[in-house]
Amino acid sequence: MSESLEKVRQHYDDVADIYDNRYNRNRGRFYYDHIAGHVMDCIPIPGRVLDLGCGTGLFLSACERRGGCGVGLDLSRGMALRAQSRCRESEVTWGNAEVLPFRDGCFDAVTSLLAFSYVRRPEHMLSEACRVLRPGGVIAVCTLGRNLFTSGLPAIYGMAEAMKVRRIGMGSFGENYYTDGEIRDLFECAGFDAVQVRRCSFAHLNLADPLFGIAKRIEPFVEEKVPRLAYNILARGVKPE
Ligand SMILES: C[S@@+](CC[C@H](N)C(=O)[O-])C[C@H]1O[C@@H](n2cnc3c(N)ncnc32)[C@H](O)[C@@H]1O
Repeated sequence: MSESLEKVRQHYDDVADIYDNRYNRNRGRFYYDHIAGHVMDCIPIPGRVLDLGCGTGLFLSACERRGGCGVGLDLSRGMALRAQSRCRESEVTWGNAEVLPFRDGCFDAVTSLLAFSYVRRPEHMLSEACRVLRPGGVIAVCTLGRNLFTSGLPAIYGMAEAMKVRRIGMGSFGENYYTDGEIRDLFECAGFDAVQVRRCSFAHLNLADPLFGIAKRIEPFVEEKVPRLAYNILARGVKPE
């Protein structure tokens, strides 16, 4: 494993016990449910789902609640173990999403939430995802996109690392924030058809009140009318029949 990937793995092992405090409570829960809802709307449920960078299994458990089942894969053993204890109907393993230990065509959907920016060779992850999907299977990825707000993040995260802040994702991990066009090209080069790319989410959990409350109310308007202000990219593609 490369040194930079090892750093990501180590970080998520270190924060595995506090991860759910951020995304499964209060504002974090609202933010997470919002993006998870967008991803859920893209995929066939019930079906067999592979969630890449599954973390503590928040998305997989939402699939299970809707009658789906699946497999989670995460780089961090600590995160994967938490996912396994949360998701009783699914299997969870640890490894790099760029090299998938699954046979061809065995999933109806591949998903990935808030993990794609860490992947070093996204073209490998996407071509592996295409391989393990059945013909007609769907991929849906939600990841922070590049815009006015996110372009300042690497500097902020670098400072947080220097100050030894123990917070999820706060560090210099060489993350990649893509434009809509870049992510579309990656999906098409990996062999996906019917690629759709759009922006979602505006009420980011880091916003303080009352900004968070305002952002929450205008989120649907931003997503529809001024999507370049939205933080995340939602990309969907279909494996050709
Ligand atoms: C911000 S967390 C998101 C977790 C989960 N998807 C969620 O939505 O709660 C990012 C996750 O991606 C995982 N990750 C990063 N790079 C990865 C890779 N190359 N392969 C597999 N997992 C990876 C990390 O270990 C971490 O658990």
